[in-house]
Amino acid sequence: MIIDTHAHYDDEQFDPDRNELLKSMEAGGIGLIVDAGSTVASWGKIVKLTEEYPFMYGAIGVHPDEVGSLDDEQFARMPDLLDLDKIIAVGEIGLDYYWDKEKHDIQKKWFIRQLELAREKNMPVIIHSREAAADTFEIMKEHAAGMKAVIHCYSYSAEMAREYVKMGYYIGVGGVVTFKNAKKLKQVVEEIPLETIVLETDCPYLAPVPYRGKRNCSLYLPYVAEQIAEIKGTTVENVIQQTEKNSRELYCL
Ligand code: NI
Repeated sequence: MIIDTHAHYDDEQFDPDRNELLKSMEAGGIGLIVDAGSTVASWGKIVKLTEEYPFMYGAIGVHPDEVGSLDDEQFARMPDLLDLDKIIAVGEIGLDYYWDKEKHDIQKKWFIRQLELAREKNMPVIIHSREAAADTFEIMKEHAAGMKAVIHCYSYSAEMAREYVKMGYYIGVGGVVTFKNAKKLKQVVEEIPLETIVLETDCPYLAPVPYRGKRNCSLYLPYVAEQIAEIKGTTVENVIQQTEKNSRELYCL
């Protein structure tokens, strides 16, 4: 089965047809979806989705662009949410110096606090990192050694990917790998073992070709798997099987 390791079906872009769309997943070969937390407001929606659909699991966390809305009171809600059966990771958390919405020291503080919470709970983490390669790597080395993690929507060099792989982390690959100009990511996929790659959509964002620019959904993951298979010189079936195994190891499913 195909596992989507990172989606945002809580997003309002899915409000018009969420139920219809999610009901079509199993027939489309999508066996399991992990909905990643982005804002404090997303948490309740994610828990509800995991209760409504057997194939949906969730992660609870706050995205670096949104940590301005996080405070001690909200943070104190996280442990109980993380104890729920179908909440299986802390995320998405990290650093984003591209949009640069929050001060770097504030981003770092909440990134580290959420990493430490994941360590206490013995849970994997979903890492968002954009234009913040060095700081993310430093913090991961210091605060996430030995933990399970996925570097989601990976956008850095092949060298850095190899470093993360050495640390036992997984690399999240989505629609971007199908873009013609995505030379760097294609090179990453070529150089790291298939055993370290997981599939993701980040939907509603980053739809693969031929849907680039449209609303993304997990049903388009076969296009991502096909591209990875082509780069790796293997079959789509093998990519789907191996990434399913990787995703289960990552999230202890
Ligand atoms: Ni995301």
